[in-house]
Amino acid sequence: MTATILDGKAFAARVRDSVAAHVARLTEEKGITPGLAVVLVGKDPASQVYVTSKGKMTLEVGMASFEHRLAEDSSEQELLGLIDRLNADPAVHGILVQLPLPEHLDPDLVINAIDPAKDVDGFHVSNVGLLGTGQKGMVPCTPLGCLMMLRDHHGSLTGKEAVVIGRSNIVGKPMAQLLLGESCTVTTAHSRTRDLSEVVRRADILVAAVGRPEMVPGDWIKPGATVIDVGINRVAAPEKGEGRTRLVGDCHYESCAAVAGAITPVPGGVGPMTIACLLANTLTACCRANALPEPEGMIP
Ligand code: GUN
Repeated sequence: MTATILDGKAFAARVRDSVAAHVARLTEEKGITPGLAVVLVGKDPASQVYVTSKGKMTLEVGMASFEHRLAEDSSEQELLGLIDRLNADPAVHGILVQLPLPEHLDPDLVINAIDPAKDVDGFHVSNVGLLGTGQKGMVPCTPLGCLMMLRDHHGSLTGKEAVVIGRSNIVGKPMAQLLLGESCTVTTAHSRTRDLSEVVRRADILVAAVGRPEMVPGDWIKPGATVIDVGINRVAAPEKGEGRTRLVGDCHYESCAAVAGAITPVPGGVGPMTIACLLANTLTACCRANALPEPEGMIP
């Protein structure tokens, strides 16, 4: 069997096109332009790349982008002051504070200072609670992107055995909640799970989000299963030359693709969906803030 490749890059481009069309209509008919503020504290190289890319794509869909780059040694008071101003700014519909924050700043305190209606990451306790109780809030972008791809491929997910490897607040936990909301039978596995291979073998749907390069081999995969690989791991690639690297997922791609029914590649799978969902969330937040109907089909 050769798995269907779930092309996240193409899917994400379609989502962004749809967001851009909604934004153009909002601006033309209502004079409203959705705005996204991204806050980066410090100089983490990966975060800098993400933040620049987010800003660029925000502008590409016709939204307003507000970028705030703060010094590594910024105080809690400074950061909370900025969040207060963004909360009160009617031109800002979405606020994202890039994680990880420098050691001296408490991420829970900072994230919970964001107005939940503007929390387009879906990390505020209030949004976490809304998701957990099946109420409407903001859904974290990466799991939302995974769910969109699963729904697109399968239609209904009802009754399927889903295994999520990883229990992070950003991916694993909200992913499990979303799959439960789709009436899957959900298992959340993690570093202390016994007989992980046996647990994974049950899965009709596997979501791997641990950040360990190629830890899931093909012989753990149930034939025909759908594999969603959230991992983005940079590893040495001596075959490409001295000091060169390549990106790999949490699943061993070739062996998993030989057994699975469908699989997301790395790169070009889940990754591009995250920013597309961030833009979709910002559009939704803007519609809600203006008591306008929400764009259809973008949010579970
Ligand atoms: N760092 C890694 N992933 C994310 C994300 O989805 N949102 C934010 N704010 N920071 C991150």
